[in-house]
Amino acid sequence: MAQEFFTIGRHLSMERLRFPEATGEYTSLMSEIVLTAKIINREVNKAGLLDDITGYTGDINVQGEEVRKLDQYADDLFMHILKYSGHVCAMASEEAEDLVRGPTYVNTGKYVVMLDPLDGSSNIDANVSIGSIFAIHSRVTPTGEPGALEDFLQPGRDLIAAGYVLYGSSTIMVYTSGRGVHGFTLDPSAGTFILSHPNIQIPQECKIYSVNESYTRDWTEGVRRYVERCKCIGESDEHELDNPMSSRYIGSMVADFHRNLLYGGIFLYPGTVKKPNGKLRLLYEANPMAFLVEQAGGAASNGEIDILDIMPTELHGRVPLFMGNKDEVELIENYIKKYDLMEELIG
Ligand code: AHG
Ligand code: MN
Ligand code: MN
Repeated sequence: MAQEFFTIGRHLSMERLRFPEATGEYTSLMSEIVLTAKIINREVNKAGLLDDITGYTGDINVQGEEVRKLDQYADDLFMHILKYSGHVCAMASEEAEDLVRGPTYVNTGKYVVMLDPLDGSSNIDANVSIGSIFAIHSRVTPTGEPGALEDFLQPGRDLIAAGYVLYGSSTIMVYTSGRGVHGFTLDPSAGTFILSHPNIQIPQECKIYSVNESYTRDWTEGVRRYVERCKCIGESDEHELDNPMSSRYIGSMVADFHRNLLYGGIFLYPGTVKKPNGKLRLLYEANPMAFLVEQAGGAASNGEIDILDIMPTELHGRVPLFMGNKDEVELIENYIKKYDLMEELIG
């Protein structure tokens, strides 16, 4: 059958056939996420035409950030659709301080979903690529009851699925359920996502580094030396490159991640002396991307350990993030160990 007919729905059905004991709840949950993505995509495409989609709501979210109308729209839509799906027992979102549950009769499902409903908000009004991120855990509390905080406080390694939607020059959904990373491009005329990027593997060569360099003066020595090495400046060492890598930074993590996944690259959002945990959130930004990149043959670290091995302690906890080609992630861990952690130990 031609690849153009291989829809995300068919892919999910085929995955389900591999598990005869499966109840179909996961497949239905994923279908609801797909539906939400299509509706958000429709609204994103109208941004600029309608005043009620661009600009700010006037609210400040739990992160202390100004909420944009599209942040709010995407959050409301995910919450509404997933809440009534009957497959989740609770949800967590960047835009909600506490976990979110539906009415008692629907909040007994098998799963919890963690969401960054709209990633790259600062780029919305300039027509620059933005995304949505999701991650799914099986609940650890008994079924039949509403979900609880402990359902979310599981290491990323135990995720059952994660993915993102990138609203870019075309709209693509990339996801993994632990059996490879697959990309599906939205065919707007058919209104469905079609398999366009089966079994994505990050290229061997790391050609790109992605970091907001305006924070250079606040970086630790290890991070600064690593980025200098990417640019072939600073003190030379045994890891010296023949040519500098290219610098690419969009400011929408989904878009920066997707490009690096396809072209080969490393994305950095380090901690700084003032903000040791950086900006990005573990549960709905770092973990889903770490799960994807590891499935694609890459790695993700907080500078010391794998992101997927971190035991979360709160819904909105932040974490320094280094992810992309495995060798490069290992290398920056070594720079951090050598220049930052040793220094801390020596005093
Ligand atoms: P969000 O829009 O969900 O709040 O996330 C924005 C994040 C992420 O997409 C991006 O990598 C990062 O913020 C950019 O931050 P800086 O402007 O500090 O570089
Ligand atoms: Mn984000
Ligand atoms: Mn967001």
